[in-house]
Amino acid sequence: MGKKNKVFIATSIDGYIADKNGAIDWLHSIPNPDNADMGYGEFMSGVDALVMGRTTFDTVCGFDMDWPYEKPVFVLSNSMSQVPDKYRNKAEIVKGSPNEILEKIHNKGYNRLYIDGGKTIQGFLKEDLIDEITITIIPYVLGGGIPLFTALPERLEFECIDTKIYLEKVVQHRFTRKR
Ligand SMILES: NC(=O)c1ccc[n+]([C@@H]2O[C@H](COP(=O)([O-])OP(=O)(O)OC[C@H]3O[C@@H](n4cnc5c(N)ncnc54)[C@H](OP(=O)(O)O)[C@@H]3O)[C@@H](O)[C@H]2O)c1
Repeated sequence: MGKKNKVFIATSIDGYIADKNGAIDWLHSIPNPDNADMGYGEFMSGVDALVMGRTTFDTVCGFDMDWPYEKPVFVLSNSMSQVPDKYRNKAEIVKGSPNEILEKIHNKGYNRLYIDGGKTIQGFLKEDLIDEITITIIPYVLGGGIPLFTALPERLEFECIDTKIYLEKVVQHRFTRKR
């Protein structure tokens, strides 16, 4: 199966993925009585594994619920050498440049990857390693926080292949890299 690196992420109107305090409560503030998954299940069914930054891993570990992923999770970290014991059969640490990280994960047989976490996505974008970005825009202007994007050495052209509106309030765009 072809190698692909995909992003599926929610941002504020002004492009933040967490607020100034690192909080993400605003992501779930739109009433969602039928628990619409906004394409998440379909997206997840199309990936083999997740690659996430250590900060995002910490956030997920802090959720008051069971481990949410059925697929292998690779956690990028220079500060951690192993994940805590209770996550050993669920997640493992990988480090290196984005290309080295990809080589290690591809060698394990996982090719279609969900890339998650601000710094992690930015690192992959700097090497032009992101093939698809789905952004769900939550209607807040936060005025600061953890950004999805930062400066890049050169511009990257994407094309919009789909737009959906969920809950009559949330816009979701799907972009693929134009190569
Ligand atoms: N809105 C959303 O949909 C959404 C989605 C995901 C996350 N979030 C939120 O976004 C925030 C996290 O984003 P973030 O920008 O702080 O970063 P992140 O990418 O989750 O984590 C950054 C950390 O990942 C590690 N890392 C990244 N690239 C690496 C590499 N090539 N090699 C080794 N380690 C690497 C480093 O860990 P060490 O410091 O351990 O070395 C770095 O400090 C959290 O608040 C999370 O809740 C929101």
